[in-house]
Amino acid sequence: MPTKPIPRRRGHWFWGCLMEMIQDRSGFLVEKHEEHGDVFVSRALIRDLLFVRDPAVVYGINVTHWADFYKPDYIKQMWKPFLGNGLVPNDGESWKRQHKLILPGFHKKRVDAYAPTMVEFTERMLDRWREGERRDMRLELNALALEVVAATLFDIDIGKEDSKIIREAIGDVSEILVKDADNMVPRPDWWPSASNRRKKRAIAKIEDIIRRVHQDRLTSQKDRGDLFSHMVFVEDEQGRMSDEQLRDEAMTLIFAGHETTAHALVWTWYLLAKNSDKVAKMREELESAVGDRRLQVDDLPKLPYLEMVVKESLRLYPSVWAYARQAQRDLVIEGYEIKKGQTVTIGHIAMGRNPKYYDEPMEFRPERWNRDFERRLPRGAYTPFAGGPRVCLGKQFAMMEMRMILGTLVRRLEITVPDGFEPDFITELSMHPGERGMPTDVKFHHGLV
Ligand code: HEM
Repeated sequence: MPTKPIPRRRGHWFWGCLMEMIQDRSGFLVEKHEEHGDVFVSRALIRDLLFVRDPAVVYGINVTHWADFYKPDYIKQMWKPFLGNGLVPNDGESWKRQHKLILPGFHKKRVDAYAPTMVEFTERMLDRWREGERRDMRLELNALALEVVAATLFDIDIGKEDSKIIREAIGDVSEILVKDADNMVPRPDWWPSASNRRKKRAIAKIEDIIRRVHQDRLTSQKDRGDLFSHMVFVEDEQGRMSDEQLRDEAMTLIFAGHETTAHALVWTWYLLAKNSDKVAKMREELESAVGDRRLQVDDLPKLPYLEMVVKESLRLYPSVWAYARQAQRDLVIEGYEIKKGQTVTIGHIAMGRNPKYYDEPMEFRPERWNRDFERRLPRGAYTPFAGGPRVCLGKQFAMMEMRMILGTLVRRLEITVPDGFEPDFITELSMHPGERGMPTDVKFHHGLV
């Protein structure tokens, strides 16, 4: 097959596209793909970056050639102080071993067993709320998702204090890591800058909590059936995980397991607040399938519209808005030549807004996710959780959690944001609405459900 030329975006003579990207990362992906097509290349200082939103190429990277791509060096560097060598930045043989050890902890049966906790914690949160008060859904949903992860994956009832410490620490780390990654002159970790000190303090706070739980499991020598116990006691021919690896995996799960889901729910809240007809449709479905009892995991197959809402929200406002890979050898995918060392950014947010695959892409239309549409959608055109062997390990967990929480919220609350409110779109490690949050004036729903 003859190779295809890759269009080049020429940015600033010195920065290339770097400054444009820093100013608005997701906007850059969406706009520049519109301008230059589904595959283009651009320079950021000395590094050439390949941007992809062509489903066949995405499929080639995620599935066919997955073993030829690692996480980019600069991303590993960024993650190192925080997630160490946890599953997200890990690669090669070490990733294979860790993946094999941890995967059984995400077995469907085990994950399904977490559903009642998800509903109970959501109900408990709503019981504390009062009519008319203003709440920030970004803060509330982050706290809720963190409580869920702590209880289900670590079997700890996280106190208010620990919860606040973790959330603030993750907020600090997230902001600093992205700034560090954007920095033209990277500062080594030992550099005594204010931001390095703040980052270290934040990480140490989470490490303290992980160490406490680890010590507790080792002292009791008891597998309590949670994922953390599984990771402490699981063995292969090389023995158990080292303490350091365990710390890295725990850190990864705390981070990857709550902020991503919380922010995905925040965007779903926003979309529903602007589309009250969709909320009515969700309520109708819940009423006929569940009646007035609590939502259970067995109800989910009877709630296709709820699932469509979640899928559509992850298309339009994906919390993990992009992910990146680095080629480990020269290869050709769908006619595009990719050189060894080439960094590739898969802009899921840009893919989700590609009019070739999504009619009127800026419209929030859960109904589009009918069977026929899904059958026609090319492979690689919808990857909010990435795909192939490196697919998100928490995909089932997150899809279930989002539906359990959303289904519970919709039945008890009016989904609103204040009149005229428009959020900011901050693209850090995940996409979130920033300091202004996602306010809502609490109004309980007194309908039939
Ligand atoms: C809506 C929620 C979520 C979204 C959108 C999401 C998305 C993603 C994406 C795109 C990746 C690939 C990242 C990359 O390759 O650079 C990923 C990886 C991962 N996610 Fe999630 N995630 C979510 C929730 C969760 C949850 C709840 C957990 C854990 C309980 C989790 C654990 C992980 C892990 C461990 C990986 C690394 C997998 C590997 O490379 O082997 N995620 N996620």
